[in-house]
Amino acid sequence: MSTAQANTTKAAPLKVRVRRQDGPGQEPYWQLFSVPREADMNVISILQKIAAIGQTIDGQKVTPVAWDCGCLEEVCGACTMVINGHVRQSCTALVEKLVSDQPDEIVLEPMSKFPVIRDLMVDRGRLFGTLKRVKGWVPVDSYNDMGPGERQSMQQQEQNYPLSQCMSCGCCLEACPQYLKIEVERKPDESDEAYEQRKAAAYDKGFIGAAAISQAMLFNNHPTGKALADERNEALTGPGGVQVCGNAQNCVAVCPKEIPLTQSIARAGRSATIHTLKKFFDR
Ligand code: SF4
Ligand code: SF4
Ligand code: FES
Repeated sequence: MSTAQANTTKAAPLKVRVRRQDGPGQEPYWQLFSVPREADMNVISILQKIAAIGQTIDGQKVTPVAWDCGCLEEVCGACTMVINGHVRQSCTALVEKLVSDQPDEIVLEPMSKFPVIRDLMVDRGRLFGTLKRVKGWVPVDSYNDMGPGERQSMQQQEQNYPLSQCMSCGCCLEACPQYLKIEVERKPDESDEAYEQRKAAAYDKGFIGAAAISQAMLFNNHPTGKALADERNEALTGPGGVQVCGNAQNCVAVCPKEIPLTQSIARAGRSATIHTLKKFFDR
């Protein structure tokens, strides 16, 4: 290809196809946009351009596409969506690379395992609920000076650090064949409180997923966090617990933080078995 041809290709506008949805439970639909190409664009800058252009490729005036983001550096997980069929963060999805892999168009969709709030914004509340289910924290709340915590061994630190990088993005859940979407429709005149309670009850019956399993292992291996190990193991052996995992290993393949999720799942399986046996012999 000549330099002139290469420049023309470079300057060609991007075709961007977006799966839109006006609100929870509404029918999704597709819109195609033409976006001027600039150097160093990522998917967030495409969405900003679409908002500024305000019309589809055939001139139909439309509302800006809604999406979520926070850190813009793959730390918060909020901007996760399905881009050209792959779940990932939109802030680090560089146009240059996307176009070289798939030149015709860039396709943006919301994650399919979470209820859509609007367009590319989803409700990851179920994921945060699973962290509550496994008590994914270190219990140190107190008005008293509790002194310095117990020292962690180098081996513990090496095992825990990778797990501590989870940003609750949801990629592992999107890719997991065992993690099925749960969407609870709001009843007319239902109070916020009643709706949230009904949603939480439905979520609590579903598979807990790789992210929460891994966080349970992180905090069970923490010198102070292990105080809640029995409660975490109880959640891991309950409905939707670690036994639901079919070991397909899709989760580990898509985790942007390369967290060794299958190792966590294997550890959780062992922990759950020991917990169940202990309960049996303690009766
Ligand atoms: S290994 Fe388990 S959690 Fe991971 S994708 Fe497979 S079924 Fe889901
Ligand atoms: S384990 Fe990885 S893919 Fe899953 S939520 Fe955490 S960072 Fe995202
Ligand atoms: S905006 Fe935080 S991960 Fe993309």
